Amino acid sequence: SQNERDSLFIVLNYAKDYFQETLKKTDEGRSIGLSYFKERGFNEKTIDKFDLGYSVDKWDAFSKAAKSKAYSEDVLEKAGLIIKKEDKKYDRFRGRVIFPIHSISGKVIAFGARTLKKDAKPKYLNSPETEVYHKSEILYGIHQAKQSIKQLDNCYLVEGYTDVISLHQSDISNVVASSGTSLTDDQIKLVHRFTKNITVLFDGDPAGLKASLRGIDMILQAGMNVRVVIFPEGEDPDSYSRKLGTSDFKKFLEENTKDVISFKAALLAKEAARDPLKKAESIKEIVGSIAKMPDPIVRSVYVKETSNKMGIEESVLFSELNKILIGDR
Ligand code: UTP
Ligand code: MN
Ligand code: MN
Ligand code: MN
Ligand code: MN
Repeated sequence: SQNERDSLFIVLNYAKDYFQETLKKTDEGRSIGLSYFKERGFNEKTIDKFDLGYSVDKWDAFSKAAKSKAYSEDVLEKAGLIIKKEDKKYDRFRGRVIFPIHSISGKVIAFGARTLKKDAKPKYLNSPETEVYHKSEILYGIHQAKQSIKQLDNCYLVEGYTDVISLHQSDISNVVASSGTSLTDDQIKLVHRFTKNITVLFDGDPAGLKASLRGIDMILQAGMNVRVVIFPEGEDPDSYSRKLGTSDFKKFLEENTKDVISFKAALLAKEAARDPLKKAESIKEIVGSIAKMPDPIVRSVYVKETSNKMGIEESVLFSELNKILIGDR
């Protein structure tokens, strides 16, 4: 019910304040949490913009504080803040830095929490699904990004919390994260409220490549325009923006943004050069993406482009395309 939802918003906001205070005003928070963020290059302004926090490494520090403010165990559990197992109860987030997740309007709806221990699992522990948090319907950073997405008429899509945060610090604020899960139609619709253009910036590893290929087709299917930037092996937007610094990073983005045809062509180019059959395969791959586009006029623009780039007759591409379209729809 709306009442129940409201009580969750209130306790989640309390938890956000509590974790923020812990980060800034306790010895453990400062010496462990704050120094971790500083080491990652986050400044005070950034830390405040994203309401970053810290949870101390105790079983019940947060629950004790919350109960002293008269929050019931029931609401704490429904908000995903405590875990009840048989007769035991304990805080979900312990000894982690905290990344609050906001709704579009800026209410705290969930948390992501990163371990500071090397190789501890999971690296990020997230809130469970609750009455106010549906993971598949939200994008991390949308509240902080929506204005600038609309203004710049483009949205950068990244994988992680820290990618969003580092890009803001590099003066790029039209950015949201899918938070490591595969992109959903609801998330794409969310971006579509503000722009028709998405630029995918996924990690430079096999998982990132696979996720971007899948994401691209979903974005095309939604009738939106998609562009892609491939990052060097082992880099993600966070690490690479810090490595290059703001102005070189922006230049990198400008010079390496590819439309979907060039992206797929480049991806398959190496193999294609060695093997003419591979070239045929890669053209089919590209035509497959074009077939995802709902608008026939847009499709024909991309056919023309593919024809120029790959040196294939438009008529051949159209007949391939029609085979797929007739089979599909
Ligand atoms: P990554 O493994 O790329 O982490 O996962 P990252 O964002 O680069 O984080 P750092 O730089 O190591 O701190 C991308 C995103 O996937 C989700 C998080 O949202 C993360 O930001 N994820 C990852 C989880 O939810 N749980 C995990 O255990 C790992
Ligand atoms: Mn819902
Ligand atoms: Mn990754
Ligand atoms: Mn990453
Ligand atoms: Mn990273």
